[in-house]
Amino acid sequence: MQNDIKEVLYSEEQIGAKVKELGAQLSVDFEGRNPLVICVLKGAFIFMSDLVKAITVPLEIDFMAVSSYGASTKSSGVVKIIKDLDVSVEGRDVLIVEDIIDSGLTLSYLIDVLEHRGTKSVTVVTLFDKPARRTVDLQPHYKGFTLPDEFVVGYGLDYAEKYRNLPYIGILKPQVYEK
Ligand code: PRP
Ligand code: MN
Ligand code: MG
Repeated sequence: MQNDIKEVLYSEEQIGAKVKELGAQLSVDFEGRNPLVICVLKGAFIFMSDLVKAITVPLEIDFMAVSSYGASTKSSGVVKIIKDLDVSVEGRDVLIVEDIIDSGLTLSYLIDVLEHRGTKSVTVVTLFDKPARRTVDLQPHYKGFTLPDEFVVGYGLDYAEKYRNLPYIGILKPQVYEK
């Protein structure tokens, strides 16, 4: 375990099993729909790559980069599109892949943008959910784990761009971001 991590919440194995479970369910639910699977960069990149390998139906992928946190541990409330999709979502069954839902601001903004572009449907899958932090009314259709209100990193999630490469999810020691 890395020195800056106070506690591992879910191990690589536990996450792996959950991702396979989500992939199996999505394979049933998206049968015959050729979904456009959208990875919300950067945080969702690891979950996305593991999840699509666990989905057995034909699909397409694209990437979108949005950011609301910057180098802070709190959401600024302002969502910026840093990189937009390459393809049109018009008439598509879209599956948004997120690593974590916190306030819900990023996703509610994104859902709004995509729906305005004429999607057929928008479905949200998140690996982690922190419902205690929600400021907008937003429920993911699929979720892996519910997390306590602690600052977590790993499996794609960062603090100031670090720790994304940890294969597990853990609680960051407060002294790391309090100094
Ligand atoms: C994080 C996380 C989610 C979002 C969740 O992204 O990956 O996308 O915040 O927070 P919210 O529900 O309060 O909007 P961040 O803005 O840190 O960008 P990153 O994915 O590049 O780390
Ligand atoms: Mn993100
Ligand atoms: Mg971040």
